[in-house]
Amino acid sequence: MKTHTISILGAGYVGLTTAALLAHCGYRVFAVEPNPDRLKSIKEGKSFFYEQGLDAVIKIAIDSGNLIATDSYEESVTNSEVVFSCVGTPDNPDGSSNLSYVYGAVEESLKYMPDNSIYIQKSTVPVGTGRNVEEIIKKSGKNISYVSNPEFLRESTALFDTLYFDRVVVGGDNKDSVDTVLDIYKNLESNRDKITKISNIEQGQDDGKYISTSLNSAELTKVTANAFLALKISFANSIAVLADKVGADVNEVMDAVGSDKRIGRAFLNAGRGYGGGCFPKDVSGLISSADQFGIDLTIMKAAQDLNTSMPKYVIDKLESTVGNLSTKRVCVLGLAFKAGTSDVRKSPGIKLANLLVKNAGTVKAFDPKAMDEAKEHLSSEIKLSKSIPEAINDSDIVIIATEWKEFLSINASEFMKGNKDRVIVDAVNSLDDITLKKAGIKYIGIGR
Ligand code: UDX
Repeated sequence: MKTHTISILGAGYVGLTTAALLAHCGYRVFAVEPNPDRLKSIKEGKSFFYEQGLDAVIKIAIDSGNLIATDSYEESVTNSEVVFSCVGTPDNPDGSSNLSYVYGAVEESLKYMPDNSIYIQKSTVPVGTGRNVEEIIKKSGKNISYVSNPEFLRESTALFDTLYFDRVVVGGDNKDSVDTVLDIYKNLESNRDKITKISNIEQGQDDGKYISTSLNSAELTKVTANAFLALKISFANSIAVLADKVGADVNEVMDAVGSDKRIGRAFLNAGRGYGGGCFPKDVSGLISSADQFGIDLTIMKAAQDLNTSMPKYVIDKLESTVGNLSTKRVCVLGLAFKAGTSDVRKSPGIKLANLLVKNAGTVKAFDPKAMDEAKEHLSSEIKLSKSIPEAINDSDIVIIATEWKEFLSINASEFMKGNKDRVIVDAVNSLDDITLKKAGIKYIGIGR
């Protein structure tokens, strides 16, 4: 089937990136978003969150008319051969995935989808969800095929990951539909040089792999990939805790271990633990869905517990080095869940700052991009700083909680300005500890 018009349901990190990029590949793309503030922002040609290169791509796509932002399923879905669902799947209080948006989007789309169109699930769902959706489609009496196409993009490198993907995974029973979805990505790949120039992102090298699987395998691939990466981080953190006890440096250990090609160095950076909209939720979702099949995923439970304990471990290590914090003025640099994004979901920096309120004399916090988003999640006792110097000045202790390049480039004299005894806690193990220590800085890393 030839695709002319595509609807993308949900214009969050995944949906908006996908919509904006596909609008540069000759398709007419509807970005369907119910939130009026987000919708307004997209219509004005910009994203409502920070993501490198995305605004340039959205602006041109909106101005050309190829990207249409709407809150109407009727306007969008009625006219589309292909519908991508990119709605949120937040976690329930018990850790399971809340699928109300997933099923809501299916029900609403079925009112308008024409026969012979394709419904593609990009949202992260527990394995088995697709078969339930297929039942709903069957009951509607419409001839619509269902395909799972899990998303692997990272925030902060969303455009790069989508254009220079390692692999595209498409799972489903209908081979023609699977091929139609694969063709969309092949078209995207053939447009990637043009989009790279527009967005001014780094140029990638390798060609991605195209993988077609069964429906259940595609669904399970997504959560398995994230669970494995989370497992690597928790493994590195547990070795960091041991390294602290035995006087080894976890960075040196992981550099050496990760140079084994079978292991790889990626996702072995120890520190304050993982956060964000995916890892915490996907790990708990996997544990919960395995549980429903009578499988006890203890390995993932251990990874999750270790991760939860890391922000407190950072503070315990600080206290064991400098003593009681009750008279200390502490600042936390980095409130986004990682560098390169304004997203603060399950942010370790915010957890650290809020925990410190109980122990420290005063707490200040700063982030170059996430101050607005962070505000509502921070304890009212935390003072928000407007700049790095303002955060550092008057602080006895500086904690680096995300690896923003602005923080990693602070030099020893800037760290020591006005207080040569200032303590630096590198909770992302990314500062040059040797240079800082040589300059006389009291440096604390995690597992270093
Ligand atoms: C992740 C997956 O990488 C991506 O493939 C999937 O589509 C969505 O979930 P994302 O959440 O955007 O992407 O960020 P990622 O770069 O994976 O980092 C997640 C968290 O792990 C961050 O808090 C990061 O700081 C932390 N992290 C990452 C570590 O603590 N150590 C590492 O070695 C790597």
